[in-house]
Amino acid sequence: MSARSSIAGVCVFAAMVSIAAQPQRERTWVAPPAADSRHNPLNEEAEILAGGSKLFRQRCALCHGQDGTGTNRGPNLMTRHVQHQSDGALFWKISSGNTRTGMPGYSFLPEVQRWQLVSHLRAQARE
Ligand code: HEC
Repeated sequence: MSARSSIAGVCVFAAMVSIAAQPQRERTWVAPPAADSRHNPLNEEAEILAGGSKLFRQRCALCHGQDGTGTNRGPNLMTRHVQHQSDGALFWKISSGNTRTGMPGYSFLPEVQRWQLVSHLRAQARE
């Protein structure tokens, strides 16, 4: 092997290593299909919504704002991008969080409270 071709070989190898070392980045945060197809077992009765609204003020407003339209810490949840996602997808995102981007996970809350939050987000978006 000539010196020239071995240098070229080393360069190709280095390029391959640097591509392989790139962290895998998700472009969008998407719920897995099984989570996406879950239905909200709750309706939007006044009592359920009052509970959801209270939970939101206590746990979420700091980042997403009192009315859910976002702050510099968390995105607007009233957008079409968010509202077009299924109930199951929102439930999954609230439950698992995304620690890489600063959304805490709320799997420690009872499921019923997480569904209440989903109901609240729907009702709030219609206001
Ligand atoms: C510490 C700040 C913080 C708190 C508190 C917080 N969030 Fe978030 N939330 C974020 C950030 C940042 C994102 C963006 C995550 C991403 O897109 O990767 C996010 C994303 C979301 C999304 C997904 C939006 C999308 O684009 O699909 C939902 C739904 C959501 N939050 C709901 C809630 C609810 C409900 C609560 C309260 C139980 C809450 N968040 C509390 C910071 C926060």
